[in-house]
Amino acid sequence: LGPPGSGKGTVAEKIKELYGLVHISTGDLFRNCIRQNTPIGQEAKVFIDRGDLVPDELTVRMLAERLDNDDCADGFLLDGFPRTLDQADALEALMNKSGFSLDVALNVSVPDRMIMERLSGRRVCPECGATYNIYSQPSLEPGICDVCQSELTQRPDDKDATIRHRLDTYAVRTAPLLDYYEQQGILRSIDNSGDLAATFAQLKEVLPQ
Ligand code: AP5
Repeated sequence: LGPPGSGKGTVAEKIKELYGLVHISTGDLFRNCIRQNTPIGQEAKVFIDRGDLVPDELTVRMLAERLDNDDCADGFLLDGFPRTLDQADALEALMNKSGFSLDVALNVSVPDRMIMERLSGRRVCPECGATYNIYSQPSLEPGICDVCQSELTQRPDDKDATIRHRLDTYAVRTAPLLDYYEQQGILRSIDNSGDLAATFAQLKEVLPQ
């Protein structure tokens, strides 16, 4: 959990490295569908480009299909899901059905004032998905991915007006999930306003060993 640009994807990659978990980002799943021009991609693109959430029914259906894959049999890490109370209820039902339970809901927090700079400076690799930041995490060669040497791009929803709308949407529709998971006793928070080493150090304190 966490607002747009708080560092969910960056932290998730570290957790994946530490725990060997499959990292499932609903944003990445949608962007893959858009790249492949699938029916889900065509439907989702309209919402994503505006900075709105994709409707719950479509999102839950896509996630449920992904969780059916064999690589999720030993557990998984969700990034950007759930984002509404209805999605949280749907996740609980899916977990009950498959015999899983949530260990932790991790909230990545960053003050809003830092988010604009982080998102406007973000560059992504359209081929391998690696994420950079021209201010804080630049690629070795400007504009070129360190991993696969493809040309880096900016996400279409990282424009200032769309970022502001995504933040408003987060506050209204997603922030209530913090209370939801607090009441279940599984909410943990880390502060990602400092450097990444400081953020990653907090993971050891809040995640099960
Ligand atoms: P999604 O891709 O999930 O976007 P988001 O939630 O807006 O989050 P971001 O990916 O923008 O940021 P992040 O928190 O992962 O930060 P990152 O690690 O990249 O979703 C996109 C869209 O898809 C949504 O708007 C919605 O339309 C749709 N969607 C997805 N899931 C959905 C759902 N469940 N329901 C309905 N619709 C859904 O970091 C940001 C930048 O900061 C990077 O450049 C990074 O390098 C840098 N950075 C990170 N940490 C630090 C640090 N400590 N210091 C300096 N720089 C840092």
